[in-house]
Amino acid sequence: MLENTQIKIPETNEEIKKCHEIREYVLKESFADDGLVLNHYDPTHPAHNHPNISLIYLHDGVVIGSVRMDKKFEYLNFKENEFRLALFAITEELQGKGFGAHFFAGIKSWCQQNAIDTVYTNARVKAHPFWKKMGFIDKVWDDKAVEENEIQMVLKI
Ligand SMILES: CC(C)(COP(=O)(O)OP(=O)(O)OC[C@H]1O[C@@H](n2cnc3c(N)ncnc32)[C@H](O)[C@@H]1OP(=O)(O)O)[C@@H](O)C(=O)NCCC(=O)NCCS
Repeated sequence: MLENTQIKIPETNEEIKKCHEIREYVLKESFADDGLVLNHYDPTHPAHNHPNISLIYLHDGVVIGSVRMDKKFEYLNFKENEFRLALFAITEELQGKGFGAHFFAGIKSWCQQNAIDTVYTNARVKAHPFWKKMGFIDKVWDDKAVEENEIQMVLKI
């Protein structure tokens, strides 16, 4: 099942649309963790563009996962060898089948190919066990943004 998969930057209109659908879903989930409702999702927000990089995960040619690798976000500026992993998700109906772990293994390879050795993330409490399994450790790396429903983590690749 995990054979026919691919990781790439979204290119076609359909891939970009699906990337944003999944991203909107994970953002909604994160808002819900804080008891908030996401009223408006803006696919044109500058954070979705350069220098940040969107990656999608396809299975049998269908986009089933997406992530944003952030170089810059608000006051955050990451070094050449670093990224902040944001809004990682697998489409809801295909969760729990090993796709998330497989997608993340591909992201790790992508990091190695791009000379990235440090990845930061803000894990949802609900997804914290998943990130621990992926090798991340708890570490506050942005003390201005310590949140109740998020755990700051880092992975040295
Ligand atoms: C979190 C998420 C990306 C995991 O992807 P997935 O495809 O469901 O995970 P996998 O099936 O690849 O699981 C890999 C391992 O992590 C474990 N795992 C995954 N999610 C878990 C959870 N919420 N709690 C405990 N363990 C979890 C699995 O049991 C599995 O363990 P195993 O290797 O011992 O069998 C996915 O559930 C998701 O998109 N959730 C909604 C969005 C989200 O929360 N994104 C994370 C933002 S920080």
